[in-house]
Amino acid sequence: MITNPNIPPDVRAVAADGTQLRYKLMELSAQYPDAIALGRGDPDLATPAHIIAAVNEAVRQQRTGLSLVAGLPELRQAVALKLRQENGLPVTGDNVIITTGGQEGLFLIMQTLLDPGDEVLVPDPRYTSYDEAIESAGGKIVLIPTDHDDAFNLRPEVVEAAITPRTKAVLIITPSNPTGGIVTEDRLRAIAEIAVKHNLIVIADEIYEKFVYDGWRHFSIGSLPGMEERAITLNGFSKTYAMTGFRVGFVAAPVNFIQAMTKVKALTTGPAATISQYAALAALTGPQEPLHEFQRIYAERRQIMMEGLRAMQLDFSEPRGAFFLWTNSASTGIHATELSYLLLKEGRVLIFPGTGFGENWAGYLRISILQSTELLREAIERMKPIIARYRAAH
Ligand SMILES: Cc1ncc(COP(=O)(O)O)c(C=O)c1O
Repeated sequence: MITNPNIPPDVRAVAADGTQLRYKLMELSAQYPDAIALGRGDPDLATPAHIIAAVNEAVRQQRTGLSLVAGLPELRQAVALKLRQENGLPVTGDNVIITTGGQEGLFLIMQTLLDPGDEVLVPDPRYTSYDEAIESAGGKIVLIPTDHDDAFNLRPEVVEAAITPRTKAVLIITPSNPTGGIVTEDRLRAIAEIAVKHNLIVIADEIYEKFVYDGWRHFSIGSLPGMEERAITLNGFSKTYAMTGFRVGFVAAPVNFIQAMTKVKALTTGPAATISQYAALAALTGPQEPLHEFQRIYAERRQIMMEGLRAMQLDFSEPRGAFFLWTNSASTGIHATELSYLLLKEGRVLIFPGTGFGENWAGYLRISILQSTELLREAIERMKPIIARYRAAH
């Protein structure tokens, strides 16, 4: 329950809807020019120069017509090659559709996959766009709890216990937004066996795959035996290459599923923007040094934020991947939505409350590291007195 009368009615009104709440807080933060946005999930880093050059070249050559709905054949093939070489997926270009961002990809997956009443197992906390995508296709979300003590890894026995005759699919987001947890290979192997046993589809969102820390490894469930006919893998260019505004993602799945998705895509946006697809092609086929530099930068920022949170005596789950610190704020004694609002209003730091990622997470904050080291340090200094004050009052 949000009790603080200072929380404005427009924030209260959306408090129960994770996605709306996040958008509302972003809107409010726009009122404060000096706000430091640690809410964002889109990289702040510049798109690598060779990708920009490829767009300029595509424009210069007037490559401005439509591609096929499923995407440029050469991009589909480049994605398939990447998935074979890096992820071990047994795919060709026919198994790939290029989407208008991962966001469209997840929507199209649910529209294509689900019949009314179908259940999808969704790890909690979660990127709540999946809630809406599942519900808009008439499906039902069944939450699979994950725990701080287990670094928010997914537990196969909890997945299996949630299966009913209506279960259609299990969703895996690794590394996870919001927790930064990863689903480890041993758990993925067990989940793959469960999926085969119960004839379930596995949807693997691997959009943060390139950002894993401390020696942890990303593993793709789609590479395991028996997954060829049941794995749907979603990924994109927004996070890996700092290309969020280009809006390019991709999905790999059995050919008949890709064909069905392509029909739905034709009705919604048609093909992804052609010049963006050329940018994506350059990202995959060009030098990977800029990505390695991104990885180094995020690892450094992660350390800075972990140190800052330790200094504030806030408990967090050490992120094994992604851009986020999933931080337990229960020791402040106030609801995370209230705390987020106050951190913004008093501290000019935008941080999303845990309730932006599921109703059960009023004792958590999601802090993203998508700002410069200087701004991260400044944000930590702004947060310290506020956290200390509420904790003392508690
Ligand atoms: C888990 C997850 N999947 C998919 C997306 C969609 O990203 P985009 O549409 O930029 O590719 C996001 C964006 O934040 C995300 O966090």
